Amino acid sequence: MFKKGEKMALAKSLKMFLTIFVATTCIYMVLYQYHLSREPITQPKYIKPPLYIITPTYRRAEQLAELTRLGYTLKHVVNLLWLVIEDANQTSPLVIHTLNRIGVPYEYFLAPMPDEYKNTKKAKPRGVSNRNRGLDYIRANATSGVFYFADDDNTYDISIFEQMRYTQKVSMWPVGLVTKFGVSTPIIRNGKITGFYDGWIGGRKFPVDMAGFAVSVKFLHERPNAKMPFKAGYEEDGFLKSLAPLNLTDIELLASNCTEILTWHTQTKKNANASPLNLTLHGDTNLVSLNTFLVRT
Ligand SMILES: *[C@@H]1O[C@H](CO)[C@@H](O)[C@H](O)[C@H]1NC(C)=O
Ligand SMILES: *[C@@H]1O[C@H](CO)[C@@H](O)[C@H](O)[C@H]1NC(C)=O
Ligand SMILES: *[C@@H]1O[C@H](CO)[C@@H](O)[C@H](O)[C@H]1NC(C)=O
Ligand SMILES: *[C@@H]1O[C@H](CO)[C@@H](O)[C@H](O)[C@H]1NC(C)=O
Ligand SMILES: *[C@@H]1O[C@H](CO)[C@@H](O)[C@H](O)[C@H]1NC(C)=O
Repeated sequence: MFKKGEKMALAKSLKMFLTIFVATTCIYMVLYQYHLSREPITQPKYIKPPLYIITPTYRRAEQLAELTRLGYTLKHVVNLLWLVIEDANQTSPLVIHTLNRIGVPYEYFLAPMPDEYKNTKKAKPRGVSNRNRGLDYIRANATSGVFYFADDDNTYDISIFEQMRYTQKVSMWPVGLVTKFGVSTPIIRNGKITGFYDGWIGGRKFPVDMAGFAVSVKFLHERPNAKMPFKAGYEEDGFLKSLAPLNLTDIELLASNCTEILTWHTQTKKNANASPLNLTLHGDTNLVSLNTFLVRT
């Protein structure tokens, strides 16, 4: 047993010990806060030039599948705005639903093809309204960076996006699976463009595929009249010509001086529309929900 005096001494030293402990903790906390406040404000990380990806689309059996595939490719690319532009008179809740699910920053606009081109017996200039609408967006809303026409039915190696991001004027690179030549590309000899390799030249100055070039936003701003013509087969050529003055020597060569294929004109097999669902038979099943995702005859 402790004597009374010993008990009091013990309580006293315990009190002192606690006081020292609390005081030390407080001092450390104050010093830590001070240390934090002295840390240099973290500099904003170097921000890469923005990319504007213009994707024309239209309602068809494979539309949602294509947008899903392209969207998840674009999801690997930072500082990118996806301009999805549909040839339609009304917005599609299913397209919006798909874009929201993917989660890539996007803008969704409508740009119906004018009737005069729609009713032609000849090849239709598909996607031209859409792409010109994308250019309108860039003229109104973009000040720097680069834009690129990325159709929803192609395959893209994501490294091409990092390469095109630094385009000063116009950059070009090969596109696989174009025409019977299997590739459409500038021909490079001694580091210079000496011509174009494409199964169909058709009198074009720039016989290139839509997926084979990117343009700087600043370069577009300096050419207020540049736009894509409603001329099937000549959309790329017409647009690139409208960017005049554009010297072949100004064109930046990507994909290791056009020695690699990083974009492919895949073209999905055309799918038939789904046959109508018999609601008498299946009206109380999951097939009703699934049916909303399909394009029916
Ligand atoms: C949009 O409306 C116009 C005029 O009504 C029509 O001719 C055209 O076919 C429609 N376009 C689409 C994609 O539905
Ligand atoms: C510019 O951006 C705003 C905001 O996203 C958008 O509402 C507007 O339609 C854009 N302008 C054009 C011409 O697309
Ligand atoms: C491309 O070619 C140019 C000129 O011949 C050369 O200077 C450059 O290093 C090449 N770049 C690559 C990535 O091969
Ligand atoms: C294109 O550039 C080359 C080399 O700089 C120059 O000789 C030629 O005159 C230019 N052509 C045009 C149409 O500006
Ligand atoms: C739908 O299914 C019912 C029940 O089997 C059948 O009587 C009807 O003919 C079917 N309707 C069509 C349009 O095939």
